[in-house]
Parts: sequence; C-alpha cells; structure tokens
Amino acid sequence: MKLNVVILAAGKGSRMKSKLPKVLQPLAKKPLLSHVLKTSLALSTTKVVVVYGHGGEEVKSLISKEFSSAPLVWAEQKEQLGTGHAVLQAVEYLEEDSKTLILYGDVPLISKTSLESFIDNTTGIPCGILTVNLPDPTGYGRIIRDDAGAVVEIVEEKDADNTQKQIKEVNTGIMLVDSGLLKKYLPQLKNQNAQGEYYLTDMVKVTSQNNVDINATTISDPMEVEGVNDKKQLANLERLYQQYQAKKLMIDGATIVDPARVDIRGEVTVGEDCFIDINAIFEGNVTLGNNVVIGPNCQLINCHIGDNTVIKANSIIEDSTTGVSCDIGPYARVRPGTRLESKAKIGNFVETKKSVIGEGSKVNHLSYVGDAEIGKDVNIGAGTITCNYDGVNKSKTIIGDNAFIGSNSSLVAPVEVGEEATIGAGSTIGKNAPAGQLTMTRAKQLTLSNWKRPTKK
Ligand code: UD1
Ligand code: CA
Repeated sequence: MKLNVVILAAGKGSRMKSKLPKVLQPLAKKPLLSHVLKTSLALSTTKVVVVYGHGGEEVKSLISKEFSSAPLVWAEQKEQLGTGHAVLQAVEYLEEDSKTLILYGDVPLISKTSLESFIDNTTGIPCGILTVNLPDPTGYGRIIRDDAGAVVEIVEEKDADNTQKQIKEVNTGIMLVDSGLLKKYLPQLKNQNAQGEYYLTDMVKVTSQNNVDINATTISDPMEVEGVNDKKQLANLERLYQQYQAKKLMIDGATIVDPARVDIRGEVTVGEDCFIDINAIFEGNVTLGNNVVIGPNCQLINCHIGDNTVIKANSIIEDSTTGVSCDIGPYARVRPGTRLESKAKIGNFVETKKSVIGEGSKVNHLSYVGDAEIGKDVNIGAGTITCNYDGVNKSKTIIGDNAFIGSNSSLVAPVEVGEEATIGAGSTIGKNAPAGQLTMTRAKQLTLSNWKRPTKK
C-alpha cells in the first residue's frame, strides 16, 4: 500500500492573536508544523503534501529551509474555507491506489508509534479515524455512534446539541482514508453549519451514508493529539511535552532535581549518573557523558560535555565541547568554538570564544579568551584579556604549555607566549614573549616623598 500524508497548515489561527501563523508558533523552540513533519517523514510514506495558505510564503520558506532534503509538495489553499476544503486542495497530488493519512499542523505531538498502530488497525478499511476520550471534550468534534457502536458522524462543538456535548469521545482530526474516497466525496461536502465551513469531519457522515466501512481507533495518551488553538493551550502542551522529555531522561538514568524545572528544546542524551539541578535549559543537540553535574540556571546549546565535568550555576555553553573532568562556572560564558581539554577550568565571569583551553589549564576569574590556543597547565590570571580584534580583523593568541599569565594582562593579538613563559601582572603584551622567561611591560613603581594631597580652595 502506498501511503500519502496530507498536513493541514493553512489556518489563520485567529485564537492565537499573533502575527506569526499558527503552525509556526514554537513548541520546544520548533514550529508546531516541524514536529508533525518530522514524524510524517519518519513513516514509510511515498508523498507528503502540506496544505498552506495563511502566512503562506513565510510558512513555506521557513519550513522548506528546515526540511530542505525532504521532497515536500506544497498545495495552496487560497481561502481558508474549512478543513474539508483544505484537503480538497491536496487531492490532485495524491497517488492512485494510495491511502491518505491526514494530520494537522496544530496537533504537533502525535508519535510515529501511535500512527503506525493506527495504520495497522485500519488495514483493509476504507476510512479510519483516530479518536480520544477526554475528561473535558470542550472545543473538539464529538464522535457520534449508532446503537451498534458504529461511528456514523462527527459533530463539531459549535454544531452540537446539549446531549452531544456530553460525549467524551472526540475527533483527533487524524484520519486514514482511501485516496479514491477523498477524490469522490470531498467535492460533495456542504458548508451548512454553524461556522459556514467545509468540514473534513463530514466525510465520516457521507461515507457512512454510502455504507462504506469506518473504523475508529482510540488513542490512550491525550497529549499526543492535543490541538493548539490559543496561547493557553500552547503553554499547556509545552509543559506536558517538557514533563515527558524529563521523564525520558530520568528513564535513561539522569537525576533531575525537579522534572518540572528542566526544558529540553532539542535532543539530549545522557550517560550514567548525570545530575541536573533546577532551571536547566538544553537546546539543539546536547550530549552529557557519565557523572556530569549541571548546576542551577544553566543553558547548554549544541554541546558535548565530557565525563565527570561539573558546570556550576548560571553558566552558558554554546557550540562547544569539553573533555573529561572539566570545571566550568559559576557565571561562565563558553561561546561557540570553544574546546576544553581534560581537567581545564573556566571560572566565574570568564568568556571564551573559538579557543582551545589545554589540559589542566585554568582561566579562573574575570577574563576574555577569544581566538586563542592555550597549551597544557597554563594559568591565566584574573582579568586577562586576549585583544583579538583590532576593529577590522580578528587575530590569534597562542600560549605555550606551563605558561603563567599575570593578572590584568592584555595580550594584543597576533601574539605568542612561549612555553614556561611568565608575564608580569598588568602587562600589555604586543610582541611575542619568549619561552621560559619573565616578560612585563610595567612602568617602575615610584613613591614621591614630597607629594601632598590637594586641598579645597
Ligand atoms: C478540528 C476538527 C475537530 C477536531 C479538532 C482536533 C474539523 C471541522 N474539526 O477542529 O473535529 O476535534 O480539529 O484538533 O475538521 N486548516 C486549514 N484550512 C482551513 C481550516 C483549517 O488548513 O480552511 C488547518 C488549520 O491550520 C489546522 C487544522 O486545519 O492545522 C485544524 O483547523 P482548526 O480550525 O484548528 O480546527 P478545529 O476547530 O481545531
Ligand atoms: Ca485546532
């Protein structure tokens, strides 16, 4: 069987009260639509059609960029006349003898596993719908069954009478239908309903009236099928998703002090016995080795942290890697392109960028290290600055093994400090400092014995 997927993403999302199209609203920092697309592309599909409309070009360009290698088909829905009308715009792209799985750009967390079992469960049946039982069904379409329990109709909240509103089994919106049926019945839908829209849900009534088999599969986890229509639902789903992700990390062995206070906006993998304190934010791809400790309020973006490394409170690490047993923070900012070798130490109020900090080297306090290559066992004194930028170009600072840079030194790049060299505190070093020697640029200290403090005239 050929499987085609149609994702509805044309709606305006008026209830969001936002200039950003609804399907681009972020969940875990990624557009809602990206979540659905990622899942769709993981299924064995032969075609994925995205129906776009409202905010069209913005949606198309942003998503095409993110999924540049995926052969997406874009079907435009010029006017948003309802979900049925939306699917109708995709029909011309559907393959002969295929089945079409309909997903929603605003129902982001449906999982691959659930879709696969829905597809299995619908084998040989022309029309399948995915339903869920909700304690509070408000806002969703209700599933109407006949006395024999067969699904005959879906009634939208706005069209439902009081008895129908009591029904807790609702439409997730997700359907699996023979593409031929869509081609046949979609053009017949009417818009005589409370919203004056062409409802996709009316496909169920039409197929049932034509004695075509309908099968309902009920999903057990409501999070997967929760729709996002307003900012409240968006925040609610974000929290549910974060709890779910924290749970996954704990199953993988991480100790999380408070699972409600960790945010994962990407993919995190952990080794054994990692400890994560409150308010950690992970973005992009983050891997933690064994025994990594992350203090409170840290942000880790696309980085790899080696075994036994400790990251203390309020530190930010981005596009960087650390070796084993490093020590970072508190209040450190490790910017893109930093590589800490084993046992390196970056202390408080230290900023690094595009630099290698060699094994066992220390930058303990109040420093800027940019475009630098620092060897092994180097000590960089408090307040040291690598002056890597002359206003036009960036230049490199190279520091040999076992060098000692006195506090408050400025290393004006391009410059090299040799192995075992010592730089006297307060120096401005603009020329290479030779290995093994003391170099300083300090004015001689004077004491003026006749000097008097000025007095007020
Ligand atoms: C829809 C279902 C409802 C179900 C709920 C599940 C219909 C009529 N109702 O209601 O039974 O319980 O989803 O979340 O189908 N869209 C378009 N073009 C349009 C209209 C909508 O592409 O003309 C897209 C939207 O971008 C959105 C999706 O379709 O991604 C659903 O539309 P929305 O208006 O949110 O439908 P609901 O009222 O949530
Ligand atoms: Ca919706």
